[in-house]
Amino acid sequence: MRDDSRNSTNMNVLAKPADLEAAAPAGVFIEEVTTVQHYTDRLFRFRMTRPASFRFRSGEFVMIGLLINGKPLYRAYSIASPAWDEELEFFSIKVPDGPLTSHLQKIQPGDAVLMKKKPTGTLVNDALIPGKRLYMFSTGTGIAPFASLIRDPETYEKFDQVILTHTCREVAELKYGEDLVEETINDPLIGEFAKDKLVHYTSVTREDFPRQGRITDLIKSGKLFEDLGVPPLDPAIDRGMICGSMDMIKDTKVLLEEAGLTEGANNKPAEFVVERAFVG
Ligand code: A2P
Repeated sequence: MRDDSRNSTNMNVLAKPADLEAAAPAGVFIEEVTTVQHYTDRLFRFRMTRPASFRFRSGEFVMIGLLINGKPLYRAYSIASPAWDEELEFFSIKVPDGPLTSHLQKIQPGDAVLMKKKPTGTLVNDALIPGKRLYMFSTGTGIAPFASLIRDPETYEKFDQVILTHTCREVAELKYGEDLVEETINDPLIGEFAKDKLVHYTSVTREDFPRQGRITDLIKSGKLFEDLGVPPLDPAIDRGMICGSMDMIKDTKVLLEEAGLTEGANNKPAEFVVERAFVG
């Protein structure tokens, strides 16, 4: 165990993987953080090693944790990296007194993170029936599963156009998505598909920004479709995925249903799927 000033009260919260071999519960992966990037005082991303045996579908989530006072504490995290990536990426909120994120936000390269073995989730290509245009509606850290899906070639094989909407309270919170889209378009593998098909549509609700307003208001007023130069939502061609707070999901879902789209699931693919953005 490390004597670490970052953990003066909880000496064993942040440890090296080797330090956890004996202490971690059986049947979980112990992975090593490779990079950490802080965006704002509320948001950061980290990447970590990926176990060779770990398989998931782009868009799924997994339980991520730390040992806190000797006890594992997990929260659900959407995997932000695509299924083909050799590392795993996560995008996280920082809650000052959050049981997990108050510690997780202090991780640095070399630190250990626990991960349960079974990924799951509904924001997967398999849960949608074929269509022409895929809308990914996200707010805040709800962009994470879409960060995975926009880097998966299968998304572009299934759809002619992929529209990623991201709405945040503040301009600085859009940075992760902006970097992500730029990296995706410049990526040697996925860039070829993304360049022609991916559209990034951002708005901000609590600061000045060229485009303001909640995504629900932009749908209702028709501004979203006007800005994109596309017809209003049509169940024959449009598909949707929604990820944000409970309220955002509820309100966006109503608008999709009013347009005639029906909600699907893994065992019953349909025209749109939803998942709550998880908060630690
Ligand atoms: P607003 O600033 O008007 O609350 P949060 O960080 O609370 O999850 O919010 C992220 C973004 O989602 C904010 O821009 C917020 O707008 C927006 N939002 C919150 N609730 C809803 C909702 N019910 N429908 C659509 N957007 C919402």
